[in-house]
Amino acid sequence: MNWRCRPALLVAFSFAHLPFLLSSAALNQFPLDPSELPPPSHPCHHIYGQILESPVAIPRYKLFNSLAVCYHQHGLIPSALKLYEYSIITSNKTFALPFANLAAVALNNGDHATANALVREYLRGVGFNGSSPEFDKDAIEHGSPCRKGEDKEGECCMALNNLGAGLLTGGQWEEAEKVLKIAENIMGKGHVMGDKVFFNLGSLYAEEGLMEDAAFAFATSFLNSFQVNPESFDPSALMRRALLVPPISNSSSEIIKTRNLFEQRVNAIAHMAYYGCEGVEDETLRDLLVVEELYELRGEIGPIKNRVIDPSKGLQTPHFYLHYHGALDRPLQELVASMHILLGPTDLLTPSSPMIHPDGRLDDFDRKKRLGFISSLFEEGEPHGLLLQDVIRNIDKTRYEVYVVIIGGEQAGDVIGKSADKVIPVGFDWPLARKTLDELQLDGLVFAEMQNEAMAHMLGFGRFAPVQILAMGSPITSGNPSIDYFVSCARSEHPLLTMLDDTESHYTEQLVLLEGVGISFPAPSGLPCASALSQPERDSTWLVDLHLPSKFLHFRKYTCPQHLFKLHPDFDAVISGLLAGDKKGVVLLQSAKIGRKTGMIRRRISSFVVREFGEEAGLDFLERLVFIPRVTSDVFHLLLQMSSVLLHPFPFGGSKTSSDAILSGTPLVTMPTPYLRGRMALGFYHEFMDDVQMHECCVATSVTDYINKALRLGLNDALRDGVEELMRRGGGKIFDNESVRHEWLLFLDSVLKNPAPSPYPDPPPYLGHDNVVFQSLQRRWLKDFSRSMSYNK
Ligand SMILES: *[C@@H]1O[C@H](CO)[C@@H](O)[C@H](O)[C@H]1NC(C)=O
Ligand SMILES: *[C@@H]1O[C@H](CO)[C@@H](O)[C@H](O)[C@H]1NC(C)=O
Ligand SMILES: *[C@@H]1O[C@H](CO)[C@@H](O)[C@H](O)[C@H]1NC(C)=O
Ligand SMILES: *[C@@H]1O[C@H](CO)[C@@H](O)[C@H](O)[C@H]1NC(C)=O
Repeated sequence: MNWRCRPALLVAFSFAHLPFLLSSAALNQFPLDPSELPPPSHPCHHIYGQILESPVAIPRYKLFNSLAVCYHQHGLIPSALKLYEYSIITSNKTFALPFANLAAVALNNGDHATANALVREYLRGVGFNGSSPEFDKDAIEHGSPCRKGEDKEGECCMALNNLGAGLLTGGQWEEAEKVLKIAENIMGKGHVMGDKVFFNLGSLYAEEGLMEDAAFAFATSFLNSFQVNPESFDPSALMRRALLVPPISNSSSEIIKTRNLFEQRVNAIAHMAYYGCEGVEDETLRDLLVVEELYELRGEIGPIKNRVIDPSKGLQTPHFYLHYHGALDRPLQELVASMHILLGPTDLLTPSSPMIHPDGRLDDFDRKKRLGFISSLFEEGEPHGLLLQDVIRNIDKTRYEVYVVIIGGEQAGDVIGKSADKVIPVGFDWPLARKTLDELQLDGLVFAEMQNEAMAHMLGFGRFAPVQILAMGSPITSGNPSIDYFVSCARSEHPLLTMLDDTESHYTEQLVLLEGVGISFPAPSGLPCASALSQPERDSTWLVDLHLPSKFLHFRKYTCPQHLFKLHPDFDAVISGLLAGDKKGVVLLQSAKIGRKTGMIRRRISSFVVREFGEEAGLDFLERLVFIPRVTSDVFHLLLQMSSVLLHPFPFGGSKTSSDAILSGTPLVTMPTPYLRGRMALGFYHEFMDDVQMHECCVATSVTDYINKALRLGLNDALRDGVEELMRRGGGKIFDNESVRHEWLLFLDSVLKNPAPSPYPDPPPYLGHDNVVFQSLQRRWLKDFSRSMSYNK
């Protein structure tokens, strides 16, 4: 899984209206220690005061919930948890709301399954979707809050929103959409909960590739938050709208348009930090604000600087799909980074305590260095974690203390967990994550990636260690002034790297070129054995799962087992060329999790093929384009082994998928691009083939060359056998390769000995909505973009 979505969460702050006296006996087991009680100066104190009043106007169990919500909102989660439970107990389970709030805690911890179960308990309690309330006293007496026009429907919408968020997090798109739509329907227009519900709907549509719906939902979310709170609204939804990039593009020219509009919108919203909508070109403003009613309010919006309150929840997910266009991304990365610095909270760039690294500590040479690794992707078998696993395992523990900080709800994989001095989960809790990193007083902090998930993306702006390093988990520069080093490798970067662009490197960090390939995945154990393929009775068990029509079973299989968003429109020509060039060949692609996206790609490829070969021949060819279902990793390896040729996508290839291909012993065709993300397979090939060998069989220089090489490998058994033999003999070099870890450790040693002199960078100057700057950014990447695509000609 390469992509993480983080839905908007919300905690309800709810008081009931019914006066009700609670027996004071319930207070005997009040769950908080005296030290956990709010002192008179604490904002939650007045609720505690109400609890102490006797008699109270509001049932105590409701006040316990209210006090819990207050604690929850102030980040005092353990106390809040105790109070939510206490509220349920003291109500004799006649009060459902705490279940919904407990769900919000679980969701923040990344535990969406528990969260969903808790919301469903709440819905059972209050009655939902036509069924009557089961235990909530108010709902039984006064009717369910989950009905349209209820004055307490906010509660229910909050719960449904969080259920939608939980389902989204768990990838249950269709369920999530149903639930969020119900919430939308219950709340009606201009509701306080509207910003969250539309925010999540926007996120859902964006992932489904419904870009217009997504833009509309985000703009509506922003409209809601602006109308409900015109003085102190949060512009996160508008920021999300600005950053929207479709997961699947229809054509190369559409990609150019997408990037153009993206740049204009991000520029506009950065400009809005100081000036509101004034001075933004009308066309851009309409594209950004989308909703007519919002556009009409443009004069009232005003400056939005530092208005994003929780930058990780506000972002939900970075502009991940932009990088699959294959263009030079540095200028846009820098633009997005300066936008975050403008819109994010004032302390985005700094740790919460300004003096985490008193100078004296750096001079203490005998002290162990404190090194942190952070990601949401350190779980067992996750490629981003595997990238660093061998490094983390082999760090000299007599000289280093190793801390692994886990974002989200997954556990650290076994090896990483055991290799660390301490594994610290921070969930999706932004203040907790910052506090944790701050208190660790690290000498160095390594991000496995910063482009797949919002928390890592945004934490990267802080300064938690004098040396901050980005590994190539997502092989893209951060554009972020707080990241000092990008660790890449000599083998997979362009040999004329510094001559590629006229004026600058395409990294904002100091680029580190490790010798060799810089990545060594652990050698897998217990792979399904290739001989399974020759046993017909075993064939059936897993082949059936592929839904491959039986008439194609013995056809040559050209397989691209990748996420469909990696298939650039230019790749359609490859698929088309193979279908036409080998009438006894099938092209196998892997369906997306979301059916609609598979449909989009299928339609795009189909219209290309029909354009190329005419209706009749085209449709005939397309019968041999098969979308197989997503498969388990065992079946995945069998799929690679049974394929005749593997097709590596361009302009964004991948490292784990290349190494899987090499492991399977099936030849992989690749076409390197100027940037790291398109050269990783090439890097691996260098480890066991010489230049002539790899260019002979597998490394293409143009789309036509790609098609020819794939066909030759498919049709020429002797050639394929030769390449397979090379892969079998040499492919092992890329796994568990000590020299990779050695390179990494040398780098860490040298850089932590001499940390960068300026740990607190000044924010870069704001460039403004200046047409000159804008034009030059534009030229730079457009030119490069066309160059990177010129292999097409
Ligand atoms: C819960 O049950 C106990 C014992 O039956 C009773 O004393 C108490 O009043 C009940 N509390 C509520 C909130 O109904
Ligand atoms: C609501 O009830 C209907 C009919 O009973 C059912 O089909 C639908 O799936 C339910 N919706 C949800 C979100 O549970
Ligand atoms: C892509 O093409 C399809 C079908 O022609 C169309 O429905 C869709 O709106 C297009 N997408 C974009 C982003 O233009
Ligand atoms: C590890 O990789 C290096 C080059 O990066 C290579 O020279 C060496 O042979 C590999 N080691 C093993 C044990 O395969």
